Amino acid sequence: MMRYPAELVSPLRRSYEGQKVCVTGGAGFIGGHLVDGLLALGASVTVIDDLSNSTLGYLAERIETDPERVRFVQASILEDAALAEAVAGCAVVFHLAALGSVPRSVDDPERTWTVNATGTMRVLEAARGAGARRVVFAASSSAYGETERLPKVESMAPSPRSPYAASKVAGEQLMEAWAHSYRLQTISLRYFNVFGPRQPAGSAYAAVVPQFCAAVQSGKRPVIYGDGEQSRDFTFVACAVLATMQAGGVDRAFAGEVVNVGTGTRVSIRDLARRVAQACGRADLVPEHHNTRAGDVRHSLADITRARELLGYKPFVELGEGLARTIEWCRQGGAADHAEP
Ligand SMILES: NC(=O)c1ccc[n+]([C@@H]2O[C@H](COP(=O)([O-])OP(=O)(O)OC[C@H]3O[C@@H](n4cnc5c(N)ncnc54)[C@H](O)[C@@H]3O)[C@@H](O)[C@H]2O)c1
Repeated sequence: MMRYPAELVSPLRRSYEGQKVCVTGGAGFIGGHLVDGLLALGASVTVIDDLSNSTLGYLAERIETDPERVRFVQASILEDAALAEAVAGCAVVFHLAALGSVPRSVDDPERTWTVNATGTMRVLEAARGAGARRVVFAASSSAYGETERLPKVESMAPSPRSPYAASKVAGEQLMEAWAHSYRLQTISLRYFNVFGPRQPAGSAYAAVVPQFCAAVQSGKRPVIYGDGEQSRDFTFVACAVLATMQAGGVDRAFAGEVVNVGTGTRVSIRDLARRVAQACGRADLVPEHHNTRAGDVRHSLADITRARELLGYKPFVELGEGLARTIEWCRQGGAADHAEP
């Protein structure tokens, strides 16, 4: 279970204690940690997830220990009746269900669009129908594309470079439109490369941190696409969850705001590979370079001023500690237990 700084989460307890909330995609990597965080703050949580990219693993444990406060609806957000059942009576809907991964979206753009864009519209409609107060949307830093300027500030125009990025920008625009058209508060959080325990490795679409950890731990050289000088703002999952709980709980009205959630520091992929190999005691495993992948952007770094101002957000786990915690989880067999279903 993640620990959160008391001074940042205690004020949120008032908003969640005894409240019903819904997490779409709550069986997934970030969603699962969010469910844990919301339960710790006293909320009752309904998860809707079709388990297309997850297993019931951790959630099953939560249901068993706290059946009164955890409910699971196994269905797609594209199934209206199931979605309506999941959001019924919920004050806040956290919308995380999506098909992640830029390369997957390049391979299958239509399915990415249907789940991520049409699915988001369905979630908004279901939330509106249920009289929810607020919808928090998991948007993505990929919205910035290749714009030169660093760090990325929310006032910059989006420049989606992949079907995934386009679907996430569409989701943000739906959030804004619904806030202005109906009595529904909405906010979109642009997560920057979230990583941590429970993130699946073992598929071509896996994120870079679990890919590197899994490779090095099984004695293989990590694979870098391109020269490795591309950089990312790696955000430990507990920081992303903190911002998400703040977005759902802070006492101010939102109308489609877009907010970066990162750390404000970046590291090159080459450096990341070196740090993972060193932390695993395998500095000898130098990376292997493959061709650059379509849709990947060169540099990514968040300006987190808006998140600080609107949410009171503060990243509280730096990269080294986050990697150490992730590697420890992998060492205990985590990645093997929770590889792609
Ligand atoms: N991990 C990151 O670095 C990152 C960065 C930016 C944005 N995001 C966004 O954050 C959210 C969570 O990401 P994650 O890394 O936890 O991914 P994840 O794949 O672990 O979680 C997504 C969950 O949604 C579920 N899902 C997929 N399609 C569904 C559908 N049609 N109906 C119901 N459930 C469905 C999957 O089974 C999975 O459990 C996603 O929206 C993702 O796009 C993640």
